[in-house]
Amino acid sequence: MTAGIPVEALTEAEAKAELARLAADLKRHDEAYYRDDAPQIVDAEYDALRRRNRAIEARFPALRRADSPENRVGAKPREGFAQVEHRAPMLSLSNAFSREDVEEFVERLRRFLSLGVTEPVEIVAEPKIDGLSAAVHYRGGAFVLGATRGDGAVGEDVTANLRTVVDLPETLEGAAPPPYIEIRGEVYMRGDDFAALNAGREAAGLALYANPRNSAAGSLRQLDPAITAERKLRFFAYSWGVLEDGGATADIGRTQWDFLERLRDWGFSVNRFATLCRSVDDMIALHDRVQDERAALPYDIDGVVYKVNRLDWQARLGTVSRAPRWATAHKFPAERAQTVLNEITIQVGRTGALTPVANLQPVTVGGVVVSRATLHNEDEVARRNVREGDTVVVQRAGDVIPQVVEVLLDKRPADAKPYTFPETCPACGSHAVRPEGEAIRRCTGGLICPAQNVERLKHFVSRNAFDIEGFGSKHVVAFLEDKLIATPADIFRLHSREADLKEREGWGEQSVDNLLAAIEDRRRIPLHRLIYALGIRQVGESSAKLLARHYGSLDSWRGSMLRVAAERERQPEAAKPEDIGEAFADLCNIDQVGLGMADDLAAFFAEPHNLTVLDELAEELDVEDAEAVAAVSPVAAKTVVFTGTLERMSRSEAKARAEFLGAKVAGSVSKKTDLVVAGPGAGSKAKRAEELGIELLTEDEWFALIGG
Ligand code: IVH
Repeated sequence: MTAGIPVEALTEAEAKAELARLAADLKRHDEAYYRDDAPQIVDAEYDALRRRNRAIEARFPALRRADSPENRVGAKPREGFAQVEHRAPMLSLSNAFSREDVEEFVERLRRFLSLGVTEPVEIVAEPKIDGLSAAVHYRGGAFVLGATRGDGAVGEDVTANLRTVVDLPETLEGAAPPPYIEIRGEVYMRGDDFAALNAGREAAGLALYANPRNSAAGSLRQLDPAITAERKLRFFAYSWGVLEDGGATADIGRTQWDFLERLRDWGFSVNRFATLCRSVDDMIALHDRVQDERAALPYDIDGVVYKVNRLDWQARLGTVSRAPRWATAHKFPAERAQTVLNEITIQVGRTGALTPVANLQPVTVGGVVVSRATLHNEDEVARRNVREGDTVVVQRAGDVIPQVVEVLLDKRPADAKPYTFPETCPACGSHAVRPEGEAIRRCTGGLICPAQNVERLKHFVSRNAFDIEGFGSKHVVAFLEDKLIATPADIFRLHSREADLKEREGWGEQSVDNLLAAIEDRRRIPLHRLIYALGIRQVGESSAKLLARHYGSLDSWRGSMLRVAAERERQPEAAKPEDIGEAFADLCNIDQVGLGMADDLAAFFAEPHNLTVLDELAEELDVEDAEAVAAVSPVAAKTVVFTGTLERMSRSEAKARAEFLGAKVAGSVSKKTDLVVAGPGAGSKAKRAEELGIELLTEDEWFALIGG
């Protein structure tokens, strides 16, 4: 029996056997429940079986059965698609907007790789297709699984729909393909197909799609693949995710350029503009050429992507906060349009920031209807002298919130009055203050401010935070209004309000049970998700992960943050972390944590309300320690200092590698240092390490330790 084995420990053969058993069992239980009205197990047991099935499928996507319980819509109706966990995350790209940005990108590569000035860096440039990315898996050359990007970690299984995409080969042609390869690329719809589709929809009285990209996304996510098939989706291939090559790296070539050649051989469409560049001039020339031809192309693009050609360099460069260091997107200038600004309103965010918003006469900008745009902050409104009634230019760049970029003063109505920024919060009436030197005015109402509270709770349940299934922004608003919840901890006490919940309009027995089960599911939560969910200013997802990894447990993080807050309170003016205190300096020593973020953490923990929120929450939760990396790396959780000249890699590469392996990299040697890696010319730091009896390694020894 394999049922008792944790999913992480199953072998492939065991997983296969168990998926078969689960498919049969779940089918039997579905029939008993739905057809015979005679369930043989309680709901919780049933849910556990389904969860286990999902988890095994997520770990072994290729083993997913045609009769997977996740595919069955007949019995328990499912919303949407099964999930596919991406074994290699699907990343996003950093952006460049100018020649200078591109030069800097190339310089950064050179520095990171410690290249000599004369060493050439080849770059492949190719259009950035404005579609949606997809991952298509081939086992033994046969198409076995296809998924959307989703949040980059988990996407949706759209295998049946992707099979209908015309330029996705069902089997790989040409030279022997690797035993298993996941091809990545962009699904898109051509402009003419989009126009024809919308014309048909209009004639049928259906809602129109805004642009080819939305239309491609909508078409790929149809529950009925027959509909997708009618939509004429296409695919440009450009990279790979998982690759099992049986040890023969040469299967995909040594460069991005070779790889594109392989893709063509296998039968994929590769964009015809892809160009091998040897200088920034070449890169800019390709960018400009593509931009010139953009309007005449049959598909939408929004820039050019530059990628380091050598795959071994790509591997060394690695990733930083969810984007590869070896690639960047050189975007085309944003699209703009003119319209009238009807009214300026104030939005209150979860940290109390008052943001002025322009409510516009709706206008189409680059294919999307825009009716609101941000005016950023008080100073911007004053500097631009924006007034209600003005004609303005709005701009949209990619997924960024539209912005007002220009006021056309010659079109200003004679009676337009200057806008006065409120000094009280429009949501709660509290004083809104603006600390000296800051651009943002904030409501001081804290938890009594309903706007802040609602935004905080929305953030708390959002996808990368607690992500409670079936509990979204809408529910937060409604539950707050009806006083079912007021703080995050209340969500985990909702079970005591079961009766009230079941009386709510539109909520039946089953939906309340489902919600409470989904909440129970989230009582156990990884530390980094909890940290992120608290909504501390500047602490985003990747910072939350760094903090979790650095401090390990909730208790340790909480204790350290209280020390950070206390140290800051004693030294409010100091500008150097070392002068503020030990805990504060330790926090600032974490890569990517600057003084600003440290101050925001200090401010959060200095506020007793916040501590109450956290502690009440902690009572309800079972917070998982962050030590996943410790198991796999010999330097996990060790504090390492690099000093002297490194000869095999640059300082930043060394640091990135060490952090990837779970080590903390510090700038100075102290009692907390575990290892000092000293290159030639190491001076005082190596000496201090010796004095403190800290292990000293040469660069080669370091490599031997971390495994080459
Ligand atoms: S390479 C490591 N190449 O842009 C990231 N991406 O902003 C791999 N995209 O999610 C991306 N055309 O969906 C790459 N020629 C191209 C692309 C491209 C469009 C999309 C892709 C990615 C997004 C990032």
